[in-house]
Amino acid sequence: MTHPVLIAPSILSADFARLGEEVRAIDAAGADWIHVDVMDGHFVPNITIGPMVVKALRPHTQKVMDVHLMITPVDPMLDAFAEAGSDYITVHQEAGPHLHRTVQRIKALGKKAGVSLNPATPAKMLDYMYEDIDLILVMSVNPGFGGQSFIESQLRKIEAIRKNIDKMGLDIRLQVDGGVDANTAPRVIEAGADVLVAGTATFKGGPDAYAANIARLRGQ
Ligand code: DX5
Ligand code: ZN
Repeated sequence: MTHPVLIAPSILSADFARLGEEVRAIDAAGADWIHVDVMDGHFVPNITIGPMVVKALRPHTQKVMDVHLMITPVDPMLDAFAEAGSDYITVHQEAGPHLHRTVQRIKALGKKAGVSLNPATPAKMLDYMYEDIDLILVMSVNPGFGGQSFIESQLRKIEAIRKNIDKMGLDIRLQVDGGVDANTAPRVIEAGADVLVAGTATFKGGPDAYAANIARLRGQ
C-alpha cells in the first residue's frame, strides 16, 4: 500500500539551543512527522540526544514523534523512549542479534515499530520481519551526521522493498533518510518511498524558509 507522501524533518539540523521553538516552527511550516535522530557515539560516531529531550519536546507538538535509534544495545532504552512520548520507534537491523524480540518489545509498549537498514545491508535481511513491522527506514547515507550526499544504490533497495510490501499487501511505511533534497525527493518517491526524512533541506535558511523548504520537498 502506498500512502500519501509525508515529510519528516530531522531536528538534527535544527538549532539545538532552541529545540522547542524549532519543533514548533517546523510543525507550523507543514511538517507531517518530527524525526528525532538518537546517536550514542558507539553504534555511530556521534552523540545527540536521549529520552529526556524527547520528553521535553513532546508538549511542543501534537505531530507524530518519529524516533530513529542509532544505538546499541537498544533494548535497555526502549521503555524510556516509549515513556518519553515517541510514536514510532525505529531500531537498526545491525544493532543486535535479536531484532524480532526488539520489535515485539516496541509493540508491547504500544508503539509503532520501525526497522532501519544501513546502506550496505541488503533488503533481504527483513524477509521474515514484514508481518511484524510498521515502518522500514532505508538509510541513504551512513548514519551519524547530517549534510551527507545521497547514495544512489539505495534507490534499488527502496524499489525492492516497495515491491515486497505491495506483493504482501501490507500497511508498512517506507521511509528514506539521508541526502534527501528537492533533487533527490522525486527520485525516492518514484522508487516507492512514502516518508521523506530531511534535515539540511528543511532547516536551511532559518525559520522564515521552513514552509517553502518543506513545500519544495513535496514538489510544490
Ligand atoms: C543521519 C540521520 C539523518 C540525517 C539526515 O544519521 O539519521 O536523519 O539527519 O540529514 P540530511 O537530511 O541533512 O542528510
Ligand atoms: Zn534519522
